[in-house]
This record gives sequence, structure tokens and C-alpha cells, in this order.
Amino acid sequence: MNPKRILLPQSDIPTAWYNLQADLPEPLPPVIHPGTGQPIGPDDLRPIFADELIMQEVSQERWVEIPEEVRDVYAIWRPSPLVRATGLERELKTPARIYFKDESHSPPGSHKPNTAVAQAYYNKKQGVKRLTTETGAGQWGSSLSFACSLFDLECKVYMVKCSYQQKPYRRSMMQLWGGQVSPSPSDETEAGRQILAADPDCPGSLGIAISEAVEAAVKDEDAKYTLGSVLNHVMLHQSIIGLEAEKQMEIAGDSPDVVIGCVGGGSNYAGLAFPFLRHKIAGKEIRFVAAEPRACPTMSRGEYRYDFGDTTKLTPLMKMFTLGHSFVPPGIHAGGLRYHGMAPSVSAAVKAGLIESVALHQVECFDAARMFAATEGIIPAPETSHAIRAAIDEAVKCRETGEEKCILFNFSGHGLCDLGSYDKYLAGELDDFEYPQEKIQEAIAELPEMG
Ligand SMILES: Cc1ncc(COP(=O)(O)O)c(C=O)c1O
Repeated sequence: MNPKRILLPQSDIPTAWYNLQADLPEPLPPVIHPGTGQPIGPDDLRPIFADELIMQEVSQERWVEIPEEVRDVYAIWRPSPLVRATGLERELKTPARIYFKDESHSPPGSHKPNTAVAQAYYNKKQGVKRLTTETGAGQWGSSLSFACSLFDLECKVYMVKCSYQQKPYRRSMMQLWGGQVSPSPSDETEAGRQILAADPDCPGSLGIAISEAVEAAVKDEDAKYTLGSVLNHVMLHQSIIGLEAEKQMEIAGDSPDVVIGCVGGGSNYAGLAFPFLRHKIAGKEIRFVAAEPRACPTMSRGEYRYDFGDTTKLTPLMKMFTLGHSFVPPGIHAGGLRYHGMAPSVSAAVKAGLIESVALHQVECFDAARMFAATEGIIPAPETSHAIRAAIDEAVKCRETGEEKCILFNFSGHGLCDLGSYDKYLAGELDDFEYPQEKIQEAIAELPEMG
């Protein structure tokens, strides 16, 4: 009998993260200061981020050592299992072999603590007392609250208002781990007040919540800001997923032909994909597919341009695929995928033709999640359902062509706090959104001209 789950011992928790920047065909375009139009330096970022994270952001080193204290916390749930989705394969009658890396085992239930723990550790080491952040679905906010509680830091979370209402149990998790949570836009910050004045019923967006969290950190000398995705140091910390998966695939005696993940800001996908992407850059034939919502089609309909990371233009300018910083996506249930931009490193890989994107409707993703839950037993987060849909679509293509491909996808989190969304799905109340082209054009027209 082939093993269903491929498990690694605790001693196999990787000792170094992998940095794709060392292997990208071209260096990433510099991050630009919006005031000067010049590349930013470490001093510009010091009011916002811990020093060591700033160094990691620009590091070109291929391997970055994981501190012992971080590995000790990782040991609570890592190494995570690699699972052969035999039930799903049978259901689909596909000759494809489907594997998923199960990141739902962490205490908050997703991949997000892989970087939350590292960020909390470096901030604590530097003497920071309080961390601020934004959260969409609440996965990141709960992960940071979890990490802060372990390193004895205070945690302030601005949670996108529509998710705050849809996912009350995520808020409870954050509060249980000692986090302080406010729905965003809030009246606690200049940025929030400005948005509320223009639109009192604004459902919020990640871009707005980021503005609030950055402002709160900048105005408090004991605080720093943390971001759960997009930035290079986040992708670096998440590489632990792919590094473990690489070893597990070897144990399974297999090797992926297609590597799939869902993308919001890009971190869970980068985490799984980047360690494998280095083999593609070295000449190995592997396809990389990043799945995004059609309601927030950053890579499929956005432009590769310099843009702000937040709505009120507090962050530096990053070159990335973007729908424009003023883009407010509809309140789809995959709250963590509602971000106007995409990690600059993922964007560069897409631009270089290394990664392809696919855009999916939410109902077809919930259908995939239901099939997955019925065949593999685990209820996926709505975000994760995009990866499952894309994997199923690949497996169905294999059924049609008879190809015996090996498909690997990232199971970024469970959906046990998303049952309200599943209730709506089961009641047939979920709608598909196709974002109108004029609205996208409108938001893109507000992008700064950088050449
Ligand atoms: C379970 C899960 N998967 C995926 C994402 C998308 O984020 P990212 O693209 O950074 O992995 C989120 C974001 O909140 C999430 O909670």
C-alpha cells in the first residue's frame, strides 16, 4: 500500500529558508520612495519594520538561517504532512497523481504562522513592544496574535469590515491569543476616518486596513508594522513549505509536473512554489499555476506597474501586478484573496513567464471544496478552494488526455471558521462576480506614472 501521508520527523524542520531573489533571471525592480522618486533604503523602512526583516527584504543570499527559537515554535506543528489525495483521484477517475501540502495543521489553521512567528521573533529581539497589522479573512490576524502571545508582544489588528462581520470566530481566536481587533475602516486612524467620511458603508479592503495599521505603527514609537504577505521577507519565511515538500516528494518517489496554489498577496503559493521554481530556472520542466478570484483578477486583468501597497498611499511604491490601490473588490468569501496587488517576486516570475495565472469564480471553487471535503475529509478555507479547483481542472484534463501527471498543490488552510460562508453556499446564496472593466480602468488610471 502506498503511503497516504508522507511525514517528516521534527529533526527535518529545515534549518534555512530559501530566497528566490538569488536565482531570479533578473533582479527585482527597486522599491521606490513616492516623495523622492528614488529607491528606498533601510532608513526609510526603519519606522515601520524590524531591522532584521528589512535586511531580509533586500537580501540576495540564497539561504537564510532559521533561528533556533523560531524552529522551536515551528515544532508545534511542523513539518506539515504531504498527503496523496487518493480519494479525490478516485472521484475524478483521473490518471493524475494529486498531492497536497497540508498547512492547516498550525494552531490558527493556515500557513500564515510560518512568517508570523519569524516576524514576532525578530521584533521581540529588537525590543519592540507592540505589533500592528491588517487582516482579511482573519487568518493572518489570528496567526500574528498567536505568534505575539508566544513571544509576549502586544498585537493590534485592523480587520476588513466585511470579514469582521462574516467571520466572528476568527475575531474570538485573535482575542483569545491576546490580540486587539478593530473593524476597518475604523475611526481610530486618519486613514480610516478619511474613508468613512467618503463612504460610511465601506466594506473595507486589505489596502485600507494596511493604511490603518501602518499609520498606527508610525505614530507609536514602541510599535512596528507587520505584513502577512506580498513582501520578500514573507515569501522567504514561507519557503519552508516547499522545502519540506521537496523532501517529501522525494520520499514518495515522485516529482511534480504542475505546482498549484491560490494567491492573495502571493505568500502561500510562493512558499510552496519558489523552492521548486529554482529547478525550473535551472532547466527542469515544471508548470506553475497561480489561482486567483475572478472578482479580484490581479494577474489576469491587472497591469505590471509601480503602485502603492495600500489605499491611502502610505507605503513605498512596488513594481507588481496591480488592479490599482483604490480598487475595492466585491465582498467575496475568500477574504484573503481580496488584495489589489501581488507580491513583487511572484509578479516578476509571472512576467518572466515562469508562472501562469488562472482566474476562477467563487461558486466553482466552493463546488471543488465540497468535493474535496467529501473525498479527503478536510474542509478547506474558501481561499484554499481556489487551489483545489485549479488542481481538479488539471486532473480532469489528464483524464481527457490520458496523461499521468503529478499535480502538487498547497492546502493553505482549513475552513472551520468559514462555515458561515459554507452555509450561504449550501443555501444557494453565493453569487459570482466579474469585475467590470471600466472599474478596473478607473483604478488603474490613478496609478503613478513611473515609466
Ligand atoms: C487560508 C489562506 N490561504 C491563502 C491566503 C492568501 O494569502 P497569500 O496569497 O498571501 O497566501 C489567505 C489569506 O488570508 C488565507 O487565509
